[in-house]
Amino acid sequence: STAFLNGEFLALEDAKVSVLDRGFLFSDSVYEVIPYYDGRGFGLDAHLQRLARSLDMLGIAHPCDMDGWRRILAELVEANGGGDLAVYLQITRGVPERRDHRITHDLTPTVVAFCQDRPPHDPAALTDGIAAVTQEDTRWHYCTIKSTSLLANVLAADAARAQGANEAIMVRDGAVLEGTSSNVFAVIDGQLVTPALRDTILPGITRGVVLDLAARDGVDHAEPETLTLDALRGASEIWVTSSIREIFPVTRLDGAPVGDGKPGPVWTQMQERLQAMTD
Ligand code: PDD
Repeated sequence: STAFLNGEFLALEDAKVSVLDRGFLFSDSVYEVIPYYDGRGFGLDAHLQRLARSLDMLGIAHPCDMDGWRRILAELVEANGGGDLAVYLQITRGVPERRDHRITHDLTPTVVAFCQDRPPHDPAALTDGIAAVTQEDTRWHYCTIKSTSLLANVLAADAARAQGANEAIMVRDGAVLEGTSSNVFAVIDGQLVTPALRDTILPGITRGVVLDLAARDGVDHAEPETLTLDALRGASEIWVTSSIREIFPVTRLDGAPVGDGKPGPVWTQMQERLQAMTD
């Protein structure tokens, strides 16, 4: 497939960066994953705005403006034949002359983008739901930055997989925050809830879309400051949302059935709405 590296389109296997790149040495970099449906970016502007915020929070120079990104990604998607893709875009602080913890502030950022197929979901994930486990959140506190410092996330996801689960839901001080690569929703006492945004939660684009759909559909919903693990255990529905998963119903939490153990009616409603937007 075709990748983009620092202004050039080239074969993915030829896209190489220096071992001195601060993204490689220190995870000093940010990224986005943008879903494309039939060649069209879904929530593209929201993703680019979040990317701009991530860059600002780390003080990394913006390699290009919104129009520039739109042009690069459109060309990349076209070079990869369009269709249903996940576009990965990463910007690192750049390549200094030597490894040094101290940040060199005038580096030219490294820009990498490539596409991966977005295969259709396993139908069982949608008919039967997925299993999730809860785990103490060991990540740092700046989770609003979509940084590539994902070691705690990938270890938690792997631990979940070892327990036969599809996602780990991270809990800090008894509060449910988000999945390792997803946001969390629940239906509790008939109300749709997702934790209010704070430092320790990524403001997911899919999360925002689902909240908009709920508002438009008149679904009673709230963003509580704290969603306790106890409350989550009493939920009739739990979902995880992301640009890759869309909305997955979670029907087993830590081995116990969620509600009646099947995807619930609020999920079905939101799932249909979201599918209509991406068709
Ligand atoms: N991850 N929370 C975390 C920690 C995430 O990594 C992601 C997405 C989300 C959902 O955000 P969005 O709806 O904008 O995709 C929430 C991407 C998909 C990834 O790392 O591959």
